[in-house]
Amino acid sequence: MYTVFFIGTAGSGKSSLVASLSTWMEDQGYDIGIVNLDPAAEYLPYVPDIDIRDRISARKIMKQYKLGPNASIIAAVDMVVTEAERIKEEMEVVGAPIYLIDTPGQMELFAFRQSGAYLVQKLSDVHSLVVYVADAVYIQTIDGFATTMLLALSSRIRFKKPQILVVNKADLLTEDAISNIINWAEDPETLLESIDLPNYEKEILRSVANMGGFITPLFVSAKTGEGLDKLYYQLQVHYTGGEDAQ
Ligand code: GTP
Repeated sequence: MYTVFFIGTAGSGKSSLVASLSTWMEDQGYDIGIVNLDPAAEYLPYVPDIDIRDRISARKIMKQYKLGPNASIIAAVDMVVTEAERIKEEMEVVGAPIYLIDTPGQMELFAFRQSGAYLVQKLSDVHSLVVYVADAVYIQTIDGFATTMLLALSSRIRFKKPQILVVNKADLLTEDAISNIINWAEDPETLLESIDLPNYEKEILRSVANMGGFITPLFVSAKTGEGLDKLYYQLQVHYTGGEDAQ
């Protein structure tokens, strides 16, 4: 069983990417499963095989415990941990060779609380991977690029899993914006020369870049399907070293 977790800031397009990648893979004849771990999702653009909302719903928790919207989402995400064993069993029953796992909307609730790291460990089999989904509109600015690289690094530290960095919504980027992003990743000095930062922060960023922390992303669009073949290829490379994953 190969588990692929989709992590990213709110609205970056995790659910849309799970939907379009799953459709793309099914069209190619691959057998895949989808797990939704977001107890606060109002609408999902795919039909999950396993849906945490069947057991835990942020909306119900809000009413039952008279919590505000944020507190109920935090409580709900933390409660997902209690279902980890059962989710894993259901995944084994469904028996898909590859699972795409959609995670809660607000990344910090999943990445920076105990529950997220525990769930990733628990639901990971021998092969597992994190797809960090960055938002194209945000990453095209110089500050947006730098902070995305640091957030992706934080989630690598947190989950201790191999990671693929994708920029979703590439359909919204001009060719110039795409080449800027690639340039910043491949030649960090161009970014460091232009970024407006005090010396201390700039030197930290330089260290991160020099240690290979600026990663050239894969550009995809959940909307147009652009780059999905390349994303699948990267998933395969991780799983089998390039052979087909099934
Ligand atoms: P939450 O879980 O709700 O925080 O969001 P998410 O990260 O799952 O993002 P979601 O898939 O809900 O997408 C957020 C918004 O971005 C929606 O309005 C999508 O239609 C839009 N969107 C997602 N992917 C793309 C894309 O590739 N291109 C464009 N133009 N819009 C996109």
